[in-house]
Amino acid sequence: MKFLLDSGDPEEYREIKGLAVKQGSELWGATTNPTLIAKKLIGQKYTLQEAYDLQKKIVMEILEIVPGAVSAEVYADEKTTAQEMIEQGREIAAWHERVVVKLPTTIEGLKARTALRKEKIPINNTLVFSQQQIFAICMHEHLVQKNFGPIQNQWPPFISPFVGRLDDIGEDGMSLIDQGIKLKIHFDRQLAIWMLASSIRNSMHIKRSMVVGSDILTAPAKAYREWFALSKEQQEKLDTAAYAQHLKPVARWQAPQELLTIDNVDAFMQTIESGKLDITHPLTEKGIIRFAQDWKEILK
Ligand code: E4P
Repeated sequence: MKFLLDSGDPEEYREIKGLAVKQGSELWGATTNPTLIAKKLIGQKYTLQEAYDLQKKIVMEILEIVPGAVSAEVYADEKTTAQEMIEQGREIAAWHERVVVKLPTTIEGLKARTALRKEKIPINNTLVFSQQQIFAICMHEHLVQKNFGPIQNQWPPFISPFVGRLDDIGEDGMSLIDQGIKLKIHFDRQLAIWMLASSIRNSMHIKRSMVVGSDILTAPAKAYREWFALSKEQQEKLDTAAYAQHLKPVARWQAPQELLTIDNVDAFMQTIESGKLDITHPLTEKGIIRFAQDWKEILK
């Protein structure tokens, strides 16, 4: 299991890296998002360019601390077009070879994903809340590589299902990771995609991410402080079933056979734009609005 820290504060990376090393573990990577960057910059107002420059400065500092992937998110509100995300994604990808571009899992986000993956830019699909979204990302990656050639990045693309935000509404977010891994297996023979358990809140989520077999996980400093305060034996003994008893597991969704026979990206995008494959989710929209609001808080 690779550990990533979900933070926009380089100091937290130094702290959690130290805790991991003490326990013979490793803090491998990082995820940031507009809310986390804004939280680090709050207290002043910036022009848009100043804010972008500071986002880059924070990401470059984090790259000095962790050896693995560092995700940086494009700015996207409900009006942001694919073209705007493509331009931002190219700029972010050019910062450093270990930077992964985070895109929202929406129709515009998937259109941007097509262009950026054709340019072999590493992508982390964020704000994922459904099996349909997970399937769409896997199928999209499969078709991009089938139509435009294999892509050899340092790591496969990531899919970020938000566990904690599903728990918040009474659904068992970790069961989405579990079902998503089963969906992903259908594609695993042809391509690798890493499930990145996200919106992790505590040591139970950390342990259960391992139990369900997520490839990697990202958690805030608070959750890692809790996790590394436990001995290895205590971590082993954590009863991950108990916390989810009151949560509703997601029902298994299976892709209709007709979707599995699509052989090109354009046809697949049509099934998404027509709604035949519905990749919308209220929490994705809500998450985009919240990221945008938090980002605008620091702008002049
Ligand atoms: C990670 O990439 C996500 O942005 C993050 O895990 C979201 O966590 P939250 O639901 O606690 O904001």
